[in-house]
Amino acid sequence: MAFIQLETQGAVATLTIDRPKALNALNSAVLEELDAAIDALDLSAVRCLIITGGGEKSFVAGADIGEMSTLTKAEGTAFGKKGNDVFRKIETLPIPVIAAVNGFALGGGNELAMSCDIRICSDNAVFGQPEVGLGITPGFGGTQRLARLVGPGMAKQLIYTARNIKADEALRIGLVNAVYPVEELLPAAQKMAAGIAKNAPIAVRACKKAINEGLELGMDDALALEEGLFGSCFETHDQIEGMGCFMSREKPKPKPVFTNN
Ligand code: CAA
Repeated sequence: MAFIQLETQGAVATLTIDRPKALNALNSAVLEELDAAIDALDLSAVRCLIITGGGEKSFVAGADIGEMSTLTKAEGTAFGKKGNDVFRKIETLPIPVIAAVNGFALGGGNELAMSCDIRICSDNAVFGQPEVGLGITPGFGGTQRLARLVGPGMAKQLIYTARNIKADEALRIGLVNAVYPVEELLPAAQKMAAGIAKNAPIAVRACKKAINEGLELGMDDALALEEGLFGSCFETHDQIEGMGCFMSREKPKPKPVFTNN
């Protein structure tokens, strides 16, 4: 792939969007490669994915403005769908995804980070939805995910003003969970990913499904969803091993590959 690097170490995969000359801006080719890289993940072995940006300055500086500059209405709609489909694939991936935001996360870059489960960033990170300054709306899920993450009032302010914010403000409004010096960001993401990967994978996947799908439901249906997923963990290797080892004070032995039982 020309623009995506995918490396796997143990149960953690790291996907780097690598188009540093354009600050990792997302054109159609990058989006297609991102889609293919997500499809290529071996979900029987990988338990957590990290997404980051190549180069020194940027996570992703947005959708590619050059490519978008000549689109017709129909082509604009199709380009929005292309980004939305890939980001939804990331959001609904069975395993947790951590965005390690190393610099600019603007427009489609912020939208990519928001499709991940967890966002952490470097202290030089900059977030924003600059689209209305370019005469368009956020188009890869920004109007929907930003409002869900930081609340409609703050999302509307950020989107209507097109104002960029720095890492400390992103932390304050809950857009990111933690801020690190640049050189500590990837190690912190890897440590968090390893911490997730050592837990029972069926249970971790069920938690992701319960939180993501439950947030779309009323409370009664959401709790019923949780009950079903909670129940689905019983009689699995991880539950029998995990609880048995707690009772006998032994260390649980993980399964080498992921299976549904
Ligand atoms: N699309 C295409 N190219 C981009 C880009 C983008 N979103 N962002 C940066 N680049 C390119 C620049 O054109 C430049 O290329 P050249 O060297 O060939 O001229 C290169 O990356 C480096 O950029 P700058 O020289 O501008 O770097 P800087 O440090 O001076 O500024 C920046 C950095 C503030 C991020 C600035 O590049 C910028 O404002 N970029 C655009 C950010 C933006 O508006 N993003 C939203 C896009 S719209 C969108 O994403 C829609 C959607 O929701 C789907």
